[in-house]
Amino acid sequence: MPTDAMSPGGGAPAIRAVGLAKRFGLIRAVDDVTFDLVSGRIYGLLGPNGSGKTTLIRLLAGLTHATAGHAEVLGATMPSRTTLERIGYMTQSDGVYPALSVEENARFFASMYGVSADGAVEESLALVELADRRRSLTGTLSGGQRRRLSLACAVIHRPPVLFLDEPTVGVDPLLRVQFWSYFRSLADGGATIVVSSHVMDEADRCDELLFVRAGKIIARGSSRELRDRAGTTDLEQAFLRFAGDAEAAR
Ligand SMILES: Nc1ncnc2c1ncn2[C@@H]1O[C@H](COP(=O)(O)OP(=O)(O)OP(=O)(O)O)[C@@H](O)[C@H]1O
Ligand SMILES: [Mg+2]
Repeated sequence: MPTDAMSPGGGAPAIRAVGLAKRFGLIRAVDDVTFDLVSGRIYGLLGPNGSGKTTLIRLLAGLTHATAGHAEVLGATMPSRTTLERIGYMTQSDGVYPALSVEENARFFASMYGVSADGAVEESLALVELADRRRSLTGTLSGGQRRRLSLACAVIHRPPVLFLDEPTVGVDPLLRVQFWSYFRSLADGGATIVVSSHVMDEADRCDELLFVRAGKIIARGSSRELRDRAGTTDLEQAFLRFAGDAEAAR
């Protein structure tokens, strides 16, 4: 599978980064990142704390301004108000409101995205198994339950592009499997999904991985390709190998 392929049929990629950079003072949080991501695939951003995953997602989603370069989503240069409605974003820290009930949060996000159907709220709460907690105050949910609600709110408008920042942190193993099979079904339906993680064992569930270190993409490919290229069966070792190569090349 070519790693920089255009989308099937030769259309524009779903997500594009061109020389994308973000500095905070002396910190290069995202440093000259260029890539194309095609629709119908799950991409994993893998890298240690502070490597720039969240900042990269925020740049792609048009939620922060680039210091240099630009991002495109579904053909529009970000930030784009109309494209924002076609993006789902599950933030690393839960973006749901603790003072609202579970159902009120879902309704709030539905109305924000212009989704009026009750069905969308029902479906999303059922998906994350929170339908029976609909009247609970969100602030009284457990950490994992709040994570589940955040996912429900991020997908309530069935977006074609989905950014998930460490979506499974604090989620129990059974539901984690369900989350991933849901992500897969969305990708099979044509969605483009970018998931950040530092859990290497989730990496095999992604179609393609982008190793992130010090704001740069130091390697890209399927889990198997990256392990083969690094000459190891262990993805963590592969990461360290590519990180070492990147360091040596500086
Ligand atoms: N608003 C900000 N102001 C100053 N520095 C920032 C800001 N946001 C991020 N940074 C810095 O940019 C770098 C990348 O941060 P980022 O949150 O993107 O990393 P991350 O890969 O998502 O880390 P983690 O795995 O811990 O979530 C870090 O050094 C961080 O301190
Ligand atoms: Mg982060």
